[in-house]
Amino acid sequence: MGRPWFTALARAFSSAMTVLGAGCVLGLSLLTWNTWFAARPGIVLKPETHYDFIIVGAGTAGCVLAARLSEDPARSVLLLESGPEFGWLASVPLAAPLLQNTVSDWAFRTESQHASQLGLKNHSSAWPRGRGLGGSGQLNYMVHFPGVPSDFDRWEKEGAHGWSYETIRPIMERLTCERPHDLVPRNSSPRASYRILMTGDRLCLPQRTKKCVPKIRLAGGEPTSETLTSAFVDAGKELGGDSSKDQEWAEKGFRRSRSSIWKGRRWSTLESHLRPALGRDNLHVMLNTHVGRVVFSADLGPGTRRAEGVFLTSGAIVLARHEVIICAGAVGSPQLLLLSGLGPKQYLKQFEWIPFVADLPVGHNLHDHLNMPLYVSFSKPNLSLTLSKLRSIRQLGRYLFYKEGLLASTAVSAAAIWPSNMGILLFAMGTPEESVLGNIANYMPETFHGLFPLAKNSSQEGAVLLSSCLQPHSRGTVTLQDSNPLSVPLIDPRYLSDPKDVKCMAQAFKLAARVTKTRAFKRLGAKMHLPEFKHCGKPNLKDDAYLACAIRTSAITGYHPAGTCRMGSGRQSVLTPELLVRGVTGLRVVDSSVFPTPVSGTPNSVLIAVAERTANRLIIDYPTVKYDYFY
Ligand SMILES: Cc1cc2nc3c(=O)[nH]c(=O)nc-3n(C[C@H](O)[C@H](O)[C@H](O)COP(=O)(O)OP(=O)(O)OC[C@H]3O[C@@H](n4cnc5c(N)ncnc54)[C@H](O)[C@@H]3O)c2cc1C
Ligand SMILES: *[C@@H]1O[C@H](CO)[C@@H](O)[C@H](O)[C@H]1NC(C)=O
Ligand SMILES: *[C@@H]1O[C@H](CO)[C@@H](O)[C@H](O)[C@H]1NC(C)=O
Ligand SMILES: *[C@@H]1O[C@H](CO)[C@@H](O)[C@H](O)[C@H]1NC(C)=O
Repeated sequence: MGRPWFTALARAFSSAMTVLGAGCVLGLSLLTWNTWFAARPGIVLKPETHYDFIIVGAGTAGCVLAARLSEDPARSVLLLESGPEFGWLASVPLAAPLLQNTVSDWAFRTESQHASQLGLKNHSSAWPRGRGLGGSGQLNYMVHFPGVPSDFDRWEKEGAHGWSYETIRPIMERLTCERPHDLVPRNSSPRASYRILMTGDRLCLPQRTKKCVPKIRLAGGEPTSETLTSAFVDAGKELGGDSSKDQEWAEKGFRRSRSSIWKGRRWSTLESHLRPALGRDNLHVMLNTHVGRVVFSADLGPGTRRAEGVFLTSGAIVLARHEVIICAGAVGSPQLLLLSGLGPKQYLKQFEWIPFVADLPVGHNLHDHLNMPLYVSFSKPNLSLTLSKLRSIRQLGRYLFYKEGLLASTAVSAAAIWPSNMGILLFAMGTPEESVLGNIANYMPETFHGLFPLAKNSSQEGAVLLSSCLQPHSRGTVTLQDSNPLSVPLIDPRYLSDPKDVKCMAQAFKLAARVTKTRAFKRLGAKMHLPEFKHCGKPNLKDDAYLACAIRTSAITGYHPAGTCRMGSGRQSVLTPELLVRGVTGLRVVDSSVFPTPVSGTPNSVLIAVAERTANRLIIDYPTVKYDYFY
């Protein structure tokens, strides 16, 4: 770096980049890279008439199931995805926000909210969802923070039998290979093998792979700054937390975050599961193929209608010998079920083109996290990510040649969970950019400036503490606009409609404020900037009315919508605990819509475990060779 010509060149380049921003230039030129250059084994343009399994939606869950079910060459699988492939930009961790509002994003907007989103345009939240191979797993922020044990015990209590923490834990540990010492001996009994299959241990059987190969690969993330991350962890200790316990599952702790990033690239289930399976003769993948509805057999009496296959909006029908598995996500799956005549009977009556099939609470129970930002500035240098650091040609070079540096991180460098049900993410970005973050949050300009008063200074050191209520009580709906499968559905999360959630959010926000007052943060010259909104009055942490107003004005989606086809028992559930749609046969839903209640963290890794376990079950339920092995 000492060479003068290089430095001069770098300076010239750097200022040119400043005009557009390095990310945007890259974005425009590389978004379509794959479409032109990448070889695409396994992608077909025309389907066969029959497959054993048809999977709708190639998102986080769809990629897992397609890969697992096609492991055995005797089983044929079709994976249908509405969108195209993502471009190269999707693999760059820090570039994730730039994909929103592009062709790779469904870019949903919620209905106008009454109790929240009051500082957003039209009081409507922007809901990005991945559209293309890899789904939201190609668009998300990659944070791995898979909840606490009580989340799963709550599922079990709510009627999702067999999903307790005890069942989920070994699967998660296998997926991340965090307990390789538990490997099952080679000659274990058939009964043990069955148990292994159901808990997912099989992934790491010693005869298959000598070493456990993690499916969920995790990077500690190159912390934007080690100093800031440790200050956050120390702040937790000052507040009385114990993060020395089990990293992942501690109920109370401030810790370094981990992200599904591998060698500087996004590590979604497209990479971990689907990519290695592409090219198998028995796995066909169709892109740009939208499923319009599920095809059922003639009505043979109550409970005997069988899902025979799917209608594509192109007009074609494809049939499934075993099952149709819907993995279209928390918005797409309820939409598809409603269009197929599965939903509340009274509600479906208004759509004369939809033949009624079964009375189920589809589209209800929508839940999501909200994130409330609190900006803190630092007077000490070199602590956080800033636009001026990001724009340097050096960062671009480091990423392109070595896959490291700021672009290889997510900027979410630490996370906290605190009783009861409070969470904080440390977003180590000193200079939130209105044209990027303001835009994707759909903030009105005055909301953005009320939150981030120093945003104009592109070298300002700082961070955003995102506080959250991890078990919100408010529930919303996904419904249809009309019976056209290509129409966008109506999304009404009804955020903060339950007053308990406002209280819980306010508590979490106060915890974030306490963090900025700790000695660990004071050492960095931390200064908290409480949100200033005219209609909320003078900022004052002790004033509940101010807090409620600020939260209702500026808390935004945590991007974790789920629950719209909930599993459980009884009439309030759409699915059995095996994830089969009630009232029909041959139809399953596997994606984030199955979660009965929220995960107190980030859902992606939990969903991978749910999909893996379901794949294990399907492999047992539909054996391709006859063995007496399991009996
Ligand atoms: C911006 C953002 C940030 C996030 N950050 C994190 C994070 O840091 N950590 C974390 O754990 N989670 C995060 N999440 C959430 C996580 O990514 C999702 O919960 C997860 O990817 C959901 O997976 P899924 O399989 O349910 O659905 P998706 O991955 O959304 O997949 C659904 C797929 O189905 C396709 N589809 C829909 N309808 C049809 C149809 N009719 N026919 C054919 N195909 C169809 C869609 O195009 C899509 O590809 C984030 C999400 C977003 C959007
Ligand atoms: C607000 O809603 C109106 C009507 O629904 C729509 O035309 C307009 O584009 C929306 N504005 C924004 C900023 O989203
Ligand atoms: C901040 O980082 C720059 C570049 O890495 C370095 O030159 C400088 O000495 C650092 N300053 C402090 C106070 O650590
Ligand atoms: C911008 O931020 C830097 C770094 O914190 C600081 O030194 C400088 O004074 C700030 N500029 C303005 C105009 O506030």
